[in-house]
Amino acid sequence: MSAPVLVLYATASGNAEMLAHATTERLQSCGLATQVANVADFPAPRLAEAGVALLIASTWGEGEPPPDAVGFCAALADPERLRLDGLAYAVLALGSSSYRDFCGCGRRLDEQLARCGARRLLPRVECDTKFKATFQTWLDQVVDVLAPRR
Ligand SMILES: Cc1cc2nc3c(=O)[nH]c(=O)nc-3n(C[C@H](O)[C@H](O)[C@H](O)COP(=O)(O)O)c2cc1C
Repeated sequence: MSAPVLVLYATASGNAEMLAHATTERLQSCGLATQVANVADFPAPRLAEAGVALLIASTWGEGEPPPDAVGFCAALADPERLRLDGLAYAVLALGSSSYRDFCGCGRRLDEQLARCGARRLLPRVECDTKFKATFQTWLDQVVDVLAPRR
């Protein structure tokens, strides 16, 4: 049996967590096994054990990760130490275009994962504050890639 699809979220006020749970429900309805976790509780090196990871990450401060996601994001900053050549991933970045560094945390996560050798399943998708439709389109694309016959 293949490893469950890992759905990770980085959040400060709950939006990314809500979308992560909606993502796992949809994937489970397609017959896929999933594991959902807050990046605050997930050591970055364990990404190397996952086959597929979906990351949903918001941006806080001025282009920073949510406070309890700082450690996870920092661990991805050194591609010499963390190799993720077996990982396929997709990033959904949450933010607000009223900020100068729009979706900065998700953008950097996406770039860092690629530098660590992971393979993008989909191009990064960036959501503004009204994220419902963009999220649904992203989720449809994820399902098309991971469960194309369902
Ligand atoms: C204090 C504060 C700072 C924020 N800073 C940024 C930012 O620098 N860039 C950005 O794109 N969005 C920023 N946002 C918008 C959030 O990323 C956005 O509201 C997101 O949906 C929050 O998701 P969460 O509930 O999962 O944390 C900020 C929001 C707040 C309240």
